[in-house]
Amino acid sequence: MGEEMRIVLRNWGKIDPLKIEDYIGTGGYESLNKARHMSRLDVIEEVKRSGLRGRGGAGFNTGLKWSFSHNIPADEKYVICNADEGEPGTYKDRILLESDPHSVLEGMAICGYAIGAKKGYIYCRGEYPFLVDLLNTAIAQAKEKGVLGDFDVEVRMGGGAYVCGEESALIESIEGHRGEPRFKPPFPPVSGLWGKPTIVNNVETFANIGPIMEKGADWYAGIGAKSYPGTKVLSLTGDVANCIVIEVPTDTTIRDVIYDFGGGVKNGGQFQAVQIGGTSGAFIPESLLDTAIDFDSMRKIDATLGTGAVFVMNRTRDVVDIVTRIAKFFVHESCGKCTPCREGSFRCHEMLTRINAGKGTAEDMDKITRLGRIMQKACLCGCGQAAPSPILTTLQHFRQEYERKLAAV
Ligand code: NAI
Repeated sequence: MGEEMRIVLRNWGKIDPLKIEDYIGTGGYESLNKARHMSRLDVIEEVKRSGLRGRGGAGFNTGLKWSFSHNIPADEKYVICNADEGEPGTYKDRILLESDPHSVLEGMAICGYAIGAKKGYIYCRGEYPFLVDLLNTAIAQAKEKGVLGDFDVEVRMGGGAYVCGEESALIESIEGHRGEPRFKPPFPPVSGLWGKPTIVNNVETFANIGPIMEKGADWYAGIGAKSYPGTKVLSLTGDVANCIVIEVPTDTTIRDVIYDFGGGVKNGGQFQAVQIGGTSGAFIPESLLDTAIDFDSMRKIDATLGTGAVFVMNRTRDVVDIVTRIAKFFVHESCGKCTPCREGSFRCHEMLTRINAGKGTAEDMDKITRLGRIMQKACLCGCGQAAPSPILTTLQHFRQEYERKLAAV
C-alpha cells in the first residue's frame, strides 16, 4: 500500500493562505533567512545536491539551471514562476497556490538571492483569475512584513494560450509580444526576459525549495527514486473512483496511484488505459502499470511524467475517439510559428478524423506514425514535440482499436 507524503502540500488545509502569520507560524520564511546567511554558491550547491528536478515536465536539474544564471554577470536578472497550468486534467499548481502561496514566494526569493535577481514574476494562467487577487494579497503581506527584502514580485496574467506554458513563449508574453516560442539556444537561464539571465521554474519546483533549505539536500535526495528524488503532486481525473490531488514519493508505481490512492476504476468498471502527463501524455496499458512514476522510469516506457496529470479510462471508452479529440486540441493550440507543428497537428487531426469515422486506411496509420515521429524531432518547442505522443503510444499499445475502425470500412 503506497503512502502519501506531503512536502509541498504540507500546509494544504492547515493554514489560512490569506494570513502570512499562519505561514510564518509554521516556520515559513526561515529557509529564506537561512539561505541569506549562506553564500549564493552554497545555496545553489544545496539545491543541486538535493537532486530536485523541474516539476513542470522537463525534469531538468534545478540547482544546475540556477548555476547557469548565477555564473553570468548582468545588471538585471529575473525569476519567473510558471503558473500557466494549461494542460487539461492538471490542477495541482492551482491547489498549491490557493492553499499556500507564501511557500512559492519563498522559493522564488531563495532563487532570486542565489542567482542575484531582484525581480520576480508569477505568470498565472488566464483561466485562473481568482488566483490573481490571492497572489497579490500574499505579495502585499510579504512586502509589509519585509520578509522578501529587496526582492520584488509581480503577477502577470496569461491570455489563455496553451503554448505560453512553454518558457520562451511565456517570456515573450510578459514582454508584451505574441506568445510564440523562441529558438534555443540561448536558453533563458543565459538570455531570457529582455535578454537577461532568467530562471523559469514551475510552481511545484519553487514550493520544494523551502523544505530543501530547511531539512537539507541529503534528506531530500533520500526520498523516492534516486534519479528523480522527492515527491510528485498528481491530479487524478477520468474514470477513477477518487478524483483527487495527491503527493507521493517518486518511487510510487502507477498501479498504486490508481488503485491505492484513486480507489481503482469507478463504479466497478474495468481498466483500459491511463494517460499520464496531461493531454500530451502517453497512453499506458495495464501491462505497464507497475512502472514507477519517476521521470526516468517513465522515459523507459516512452512516457513522460509531465505535469503529473493522471487520466484514467475504463474499457467502455473509445480510445481512437479520445485521441482524435486531443489532436483537435493541438490544432487549436498550435501557435503556428513552426511548420512541423502548424501543418503536422492539422494533418494528424485530419487523418485521425478519417480513421475515427471508419473511413481510414492502413496507409493513414503508417503516414500518421511517420508524421508523429517527425514532429517529435522537428517541432520548435515542447508543445509540438509532445503533441504526437498520445497518437504514437495508442498505435503502439492499442493498435487493435484503430484496426477495428479500419475494418469497419
Ligand atoms: P528542455 O529540456 O528543453 O528544458 C528544460 C529546462 O532546462 C528549461 O528551463 C531550459 O531553459 C533549461 N535548459 C535546458 N538545456 C539548457 C542549457 N543547455 N543551458 C541552459 N539551460 C538549459 O524542456 P522544455 O522545453 O522546457 O520543456 C519541454 C517539456 O515540457 C517536455 O519534456 C514535456 O514533458 C513538458 N511539457 C509540459 C507541459 C505542461 O503543461 N507543463 C506541456 C507540454 C510539455
